[in-house]
Amino acid sequence: MVVQPLLPDWAADDIDPRIPSPARVYDHLLGGFANFEVDRRIAAKMIEVIPEVPRTARANRAFLQRAVRYLAEAGIDQYLDLGSGIPTAGNVHEIAQRVDPAARVVYVDIDPVAVTMSRRLLTGNPNATAVHGDFTDLPAVLAHPQVTGLLDFSRPIAVLLVSVLHFVYDDAVAERLFARLHEALAPGSHVALSHLTREGPAEQLERMRAVTTEVTGRGDKLRTHAEISTLLGDFEPVEPGLVHLARWRPDPDQPLPELRPLDGFAAVAVKH
Ligand SMILES: C[S@@+](CC[C@H](N)C(=O)[O-])C[C@H]1O[C@@H](n2cnc3c(N)ncnc32)[C@H](O)[C@@H]1O
Repeated sequence: MVVQPLLPDWAADDIDPRIPSPARVYDHLLGGFANFEVDRRIAAKMIEVIPEVPRTARANRAFLQRAVRYLAEAGIDQYLDLGSGIPTAGNVHEIAQRVDPAARVVYVDIDPVAVTMSRRLLTGNPNATAVHGDFTDLPAVLAHPQVTGLLDFSRPIAVLLVSVLHFVYDDAVAERLFARLHEALAPGSHVALSHLTREGPAEQLERMRAVTTEVTGRGDKLRTHAEISTLLGDFEPVEPGLVHLARWRPDPDQPLPELRPLDGFAAVAVKH
């Protein structure tokens, strides 16, 4: 007889708790609880290679929050968060709806735990929802009834691609994603992105690739500043452009670290 391990209620029955997931590793790095021992072991290995990894995860999250605040204050009231992750403190709908309670948010993630946890948090919030989907199949995401039901594509939308593009290994696929978004979105729409960079010591990044390969099977697709800039295509970055993620419109009291291995670049860019 095969004995199934007991899973917590945030994990669907078909999840194998012996296989790590990027969403749950990231959740652990941010101090969340929706992760298994196997995810925590991967996070520990990452920290062994690059001790700053949890700080980078927090800096990434802080960029996401500043970007949404900027967008909300600029009048954007619709958000499509692609690769949204497991919810943590300061989620997109919380920030956007603080500025405009009627703001609409759709979270999309390929990880079932991320979707379950998001739906749980969004119970009773008619203006926000979570969809299980693969953002590299953008036509399917944009045609999803929960997406078309909540977002009005004739008006500006902010699309968030925050710390997710290192999962898109093929440059042509990543470039097509931005081109398709540019086509589908109304003028005044924005994209916000952050991207891990390979502008760091090669030896450390190689060791990190060995660890991330245990989770993704393919490592991470790290890109240079120039490569990330190319992805944006016809979207035009707003000030200060594509910069170290901690340097994108920092809060007044925020420390400004130098770029370290695996840190990322970030930008918010507009469709005219
Ligand atoms: C590092 S987390 C980033 C979460 C969030 N965007 C943030 O910055 O805090 C990456 C997320 O992207 C999701 N992801 C990776 N590839 C994806 C894909 N093709 N479609 C949808 N989600 C994806 C993972 O499941 C994970 O939750």
